[in-house]
Amino acid sequence: MVVKVNLELTASHAVKAVNRGDVIIVIDVLRCSSSILNALANGAEKIVPVMTLKEAYRLHVEHPDFLLAGERKGMKPERFDLGNSPLEFTQCKVAGKTLILTTTSGTVALSRSSSAEWVLIGAFLNAHAVASKAIEVAERNKTGISLVLSGKKGRFSLEDFLCGGAIAARLPREKIELSDAASAALLAFKQAEDNLCETVMTGEHAQHLVRLGFKDDVEFSSQLDVFKIVPVYADGVITLTR
Ligand code: MLT
Repeated sequence: MVVKVNLELTASHAVKAVNRGDVIIVIDVLRCSSSILNALANGAEKIVPVMTLKEAYRLHVEHPDFLLAGERKGMKPERFDLGNSPLEFTQCKVAGKTLILTTTSGTVALSRSSSAEWVLIGAFLNAHAVASKAIEVAERNKTGISLVLSGKKGRFSLEDFLCGGAIAARLPREKIELSDAASAALLAFKQAEDNLCETVMTGEHAQHLVRLGFKDDVEFSSQLDVFKIVPVYADGVITLTR
């Protein structure tokens, strides 16, 4: 069976992927997916993504031992323990902890994908691992794969598109059929691969983060295949197991 690989350019199209019954890979390179990966790699027990600050504060009242993490306009909201810088999620801060995470676009893409049977979280950092897991699940369940790009406030993001291409490049060619959008992402990634960080840096969101003083986050998040882990979003919670 050939697995169809689709790509949705913004989070608002996640519903199409859900309706197709595809295994979804949510991508928000800068910085939600990369933060989730580094938090789980450093021993966070689980992450509860929520859409609004209000929900985050309310959940924290119910669970004062959970850490509040995320951003608005790139910065740590008032009374939060952590911002949305992947580099903040160190072992010393997150090991054994549950995190409540709210970000401008990444957690929205997750929420829009949440009714899918399988929602995986992908970034450059785990491109190979998430591609392997997605093809395994898609073949087992006889479904397609959808790369869902979070984008930024409903708009297309260069780095998410390149990451979709990086993941497509790591899927076994003989087992897949790419949609035109997925093919375009693959072509773009191949063009950028040798200068990935420099190319990501040219993007609007990367430039915004650099202006805020988060250049290190862009550099960290532009690394390929650093982690072998695959976060899974199910029943409202992100963990490494399912
Ligand atoms: C988001 O979800 O909108 C991003 O992760 C924003 C950011 O760079 O923190």
